[in-house]
Amino acid sequence: MNDYHHFLRTRRSIRRFKPDPVPASVMERILTTATFAPSAHNLQPWRFVHVESSGAKKKLGKALTGKMRMDMEAEGAEQAQIEKRIDISIRRISEAPVIMLLCRNERAIRKKESEETIMGIQSVALAGLQLLLAAHAEGLGANWICWPLYAQQEIQNALELPKTWGPQAMFFLGYADEEASEKEQEPLDKILVSL
Ligand SMILES: Cc1cc2nc3c(=O)[nH]c(=O)nc-3n(C[C@H](O)[C@H](O)[C@H](O)COP(=O)(O)O)c2cc1C
Repeated sequence: MNDYHHFLRTRRSIRRFKPDPVPASVMERILTTATFAPSAHNLQPWRFVHVESSGAKKKLGKALTGKMRMDMEAEGAEQAQIEKRIDISIRRISEAPVIMLLCRNERAIRKKESEETIMGIQSVALAGLQLLLAAHAEGLGANWICWPLYAQQEIQNALELPKTWGPQAMFFLGYADEEASEKEQEPLDKILVSL
């Protein structure tokens, strides 16, 4: 196995970070590399929001947990459970050295067809993967969080984003303060049909 395969296979999700800040030059390299991802029709539909100040984190946390509270109440969760989950979530947001919100430019589609929308979402996901790999290349840990999908409008309003920027995911990034746990890998013979 060459070094590049080894590099790709050793990227893991990291969920605990040292408080050390990530230098701006490192973040710029990571983001620039993310934008080299392939995209349908080369439309490059990804948009990023760099959330690092405590003010911006508070706004993001409020938007996410406000929606979380509404959803949990609608599901009939107990108040104590809701408060506990919100406290943990706010702590995770405030402790993440960098949060990068990944959005899709909803205007960047060629035709108003559902397939084109899917291609846009797929393209944005590739930029997300490229961001994770670029972070790995910089010796940083990172984790993909799907939560923004559940609070798209709330995030747009709280961070005053253009209405065409649809939040897709967010990434917590920083220097790892944990070893990723063992993970089970599906063997090729289970996931491949050769004809
Ligand atoms: C689309 C997507 C959504 C994810 N959402 C979350 C999430 O909300 N919270 C989380 O802790 N990890 C999330 N992850 C990370 C996965 O849990 C992780 O990639 C998976 O367990 C495999 O582990 P690995 O990344 O270390 O290889 C997400 C990953 C993807 C690709």
